[in-house]
Amino acid sequence: MAAFGVVPCQIYTNLRSTSLISFKYGIKSEKQEYYGSILRNGQRFVRNRLNIYFGGEGRKIRSKSLHCNCSGAERLVNGVVNDLGDPSHEAKQHLKYENEHNGFNNTFNVFGSNTLDDEAWNLLRASMVYYCGNPIGTIAANDPSDSNTLNYDQVFIRDFVPSGIAFLLKGEYEIVRNFILHTLQLQSWEKTMDCHSPGQGLMPASFKVRTVPLDGDDSATEEVLDPDFGEAAIGRVAPVDSGLWWIILLRAYGKCSGDLSVQERIDVQTGIKMILKLCLADGFDMFPTLLVTDGSCMIDRRMGIHGHPLEIQSLFYSALLCAREMLAPEEASADLIRALNNRLVALSIHIREYYWIDMNKLNEIYRYKTEEYSFDAVNKFNIYPDQIPPWLVEWMPNKGGYLIGNLQPAHMDFRFFSLGNLWAIICNLATTDQSHAILDLIESKWSDLVAGMPLKICYPALEGQEWRIITGSDPKNTPWSYHNGGSWPTLLWQLTVACIKMNRPEIAEKAIKIAEKRIAKDKWPEYYDTKGARFIGKQAHLYQTWSIAGYLVAKLLIANPSAANILVNIQDAELLNVFSSALSANPRGKRLRKGPKQSFIV
Ligand code: GLC
Repeated sequence: MAAFGVVPCQIYTNLRSTSLISFKYGIKSEKQEYYGSILRNGQRFVRNRLNIYFGGEGRKIRSKSLHCNCSGAERLVNGVVNDLGDPSHEAKQHLKYENEHNGFNNTFNVFGSNTLDDEAWNLLRASMVYYCGNPIGTIAANDPSDSNTLNYDQVFIRDFVPSGIAFLLKGEYEIVRNFILHTLQLQSWEKTMDCHSPGQGLMPASFKVRTVPLDGDDSATEEVLDPDFGEAAIGRVAPVDSGLWWIILLRAYGKCSGDLSVQERIDVQTGIKMILKLCLADGFDMFPTLLVTDGSCMIDRRMGIHGHPLEIQSLFYSALLCAREMLAPEEASADLIRALNNRLVALSIHIREYYWIDMNKLNEIYRYKTEEYSFDAVNKFNIYPDQIPPWLVEWMPNKGGYLIGNLQPAHMDFRFFSLGNLWAIICNLATTDQSHAILDLIESKWSDLVAGMPLKICYPALEGQEWRIITGSDPKNTPWSYHNGGSWPTLLWQLTVACIKMNRPEIAEKAIKIAEKRIAKDKWPEYYDTKGARFIGKQAHLYQTWSIAGYLVAKLLIANPSAANILVNIQDAELLNVFSSALSANPRGKRLRKGPKQSFIV
């Protein structure tokens, strides 16, 4: 008997904002058949049968591709609904065919294009994945000469974000809308690993469109979406960041297209709430930060980032703010919204206070007393000053600072992680002063963090015994390679958004120029190796989509900086008030002994 699961029936791409969607939500078991129905202009349509199989081989979402019903669906391009049955579809398929059969042997002028941007756009379009004839994502890497694709032929949720943003900035909204709605279907999947099911609300790390024989008809095939929640991933890592990125992209879609009907849909609202419930669930934790296993984000293999890694905390904060903007105010969600607001305040106090280091803070840690048993301890986490690594004493500039990688009892991970720091600027988790200081540090440590290719994923690399113990002697994560101090061109777009937010775009422009010198010539690698990013990564995939999309987003935003608003969160006055009163009532986080627990009600 297969496991039971809660399955929202939520389908359909190409719904107009005026459409009303019927929505089923219940406990189901074994093979289920759902029919999505759409009420439009008083008429009910049944579209795309969706079969959901639980357990065993057949756990796939199925949707007919032959006689596909969606081929004549409306399309939303440049904010205009076009009912013409997608005249561009054939052309797109043709381009896809051409791309698949021509290969990408030329370093420049692929498809006869003249500029780097044209080449990048052609490559990005060539990486598009179609489901029932509609674009729903981009594959991770598109190098026809590579026989060892592993799972790089799948659509990764986190990898699609820069692709999605590039399409949004170009006014091509359909692919993003489809991606959002189809990944939502996968969220409520019955997912198991060795008899254990993770929490409902988890979004997959990636998915693949497969063509399989149609049930009961050997002469026909259908397309299915096949998700991976980590149960097949190397190391079986849980993609904690996927749901957070999904919320961030959903908000960006609404802000950019002006089409708020997607975020207002009942199934989308339910999806947001499921992610939040999973993240806000009570556990054993004493900290407001999200507790995760190693490899639960962009760094998706063992790198010693288990616990409370900064990247997850920044994305978590960002997703909470985005969800707060999008959740419909209704009685039933009042508790969830209250929990969300409380968490936002606690999380920002915690990160700004305890993750921040600069020269002053480092000196404070250097002089810490330890073993303080009291509510008023200064060294709350019992950090032994000897933990300050020798490299940091030399490396920390007089001007500048950053948020450390992780904080646990008696443990500070002093490594600099780029994505977590940049996203903390973007979502306002870092204060204004801290945000400037992070950019100051990037500028003053340019030769370490940018060098020959922006941007180092983290600094410094783990070496020797540390590498052996922390990575488990991972031959892919050797010092200054891949996740262990490798340089990832995709991070260019996050750097650009952060610089634009702080009104310092010249830093990003300088980085873009460095990337432009070689990124196309090197065939858009996934990452670079060595301290100075001199080599193309040992096992780097070429024509890596998020390297291409990251470059395009950076260029588009530099040309139109105000568009960065679709990603940025600004200081919320209400939150700021609660934040300052919480801090003044509770200087340096001392425990409040009197009065009820502070709660923040909007
Ligand atoms: C690697 C990266 C991960 C990315 C995936 C697909 O596993 O670590 O962040 O999503 O490749 O590009």
